[in-house]
Amino acid sequence: MHNSNLVDREHSAATPSLPKLSFSTRTLFTGYILVIGIGLMMAGAQVLLTHGMADGKFGISVNDIVYSYYGDRSNSKLETKLNGSMQDKAPIEVKRDIIMWAQLGASRVEWDDRIAAQFQQYCVSCHSVIPGLPSFTTYAGVLPSAAIDTGTTVDSLARVSHIHLFGIAFIFFFVGYIFNQAVGVNTVIKSLLIFTPFAFLLLDVLSWWLTKWYPNFALLTLIGGFGYSLASAAMLLTSLYQMWILPYRDQHRGSGVLR
Ligand code: HEC
Repeated sequence: MHNSNLVDREHSAATPSLPKLSFSTRTLFTGYILVIGIGLMMAGAQVLLTHGMADGKFGISVNDIVYSYYGDRSNSKLETKLNGSMQDKAPIEVKRDIIMWAQLGASRVEWDDRIAAQFQQYCVSCHSVIPGLPSFTTYAGVLPSAAIDTGTTVDSLARVSHIHLFGIAFIFFFVGYIFNQAVGVNTVIKSLLIFTPFAFLLLDVLSWWLTKWYPNFALLTLIGGFGYSLASAAMLLTSLYQMWILPYRDQHRGSGVLR
């Protein structure tokens, strides 16, 4: 009997519905949705521009994810980049020379002899001043990039994971909170849609860790990213529709009844 009370309350007018919200509440929700929508698109663009270029070709692919997290273990990072996003930074002979030098063990003698001068001429203008890039002014600074590329480090994975989980959970909470007030959506579908982004977020982060050691899991990263983008887009668009089109459409028809 307690139960039936709960159910009654859930179906009563006590749950606010998007088409009936006050104008100011709708502007609050809409401002949030617009900013989050643009933010999601920017996040997509950023992923394309950083990870997307990891294999040297534009567009995100499973290879990009493998290169980013597992590394390209047949190559040094120098070689991967000089054949990829850094390919226009030096003439072909210089690139070949640097790649050979890395493949043959990055010797100190050759560094002093001529490699240092090449880095000085073609690379240091960025790789000593742009924060977050390895500095190529010294032998010690270049060595990690000349070693076999094993992808993201565990500390950087841990750092990115916790920022991602905390930050994005906040976004999904409010997206779900707003969408929860949509009318005419079956409760089971609504609950599933609200839970989906959280599930895919966990899958996404889990897949980075798995890919660090087992490159075959890279596909999961793509699925996770697409999964939560789609679910969020569905919720954001439905919410906008119910706040700004549904009330006026129904009024127009003269029904005046908002379900
Ligand atoms: C115009 C600025 C610029 C110049 C010049 C430049 N780079 Fe870069 N480099 C970047 C940027 C920005 C990134 C980060 C984006 C990326 O990885 O493509 C980067 C990334 C790299 C990375 C990957 C670093 C890491 O650990 O993630 C390597 C290796 C690299 N560059 C090598 C070189 C070499 C070798 C040269 C000289 C032949 C060079 N770069 C010249 C801007 C530059």
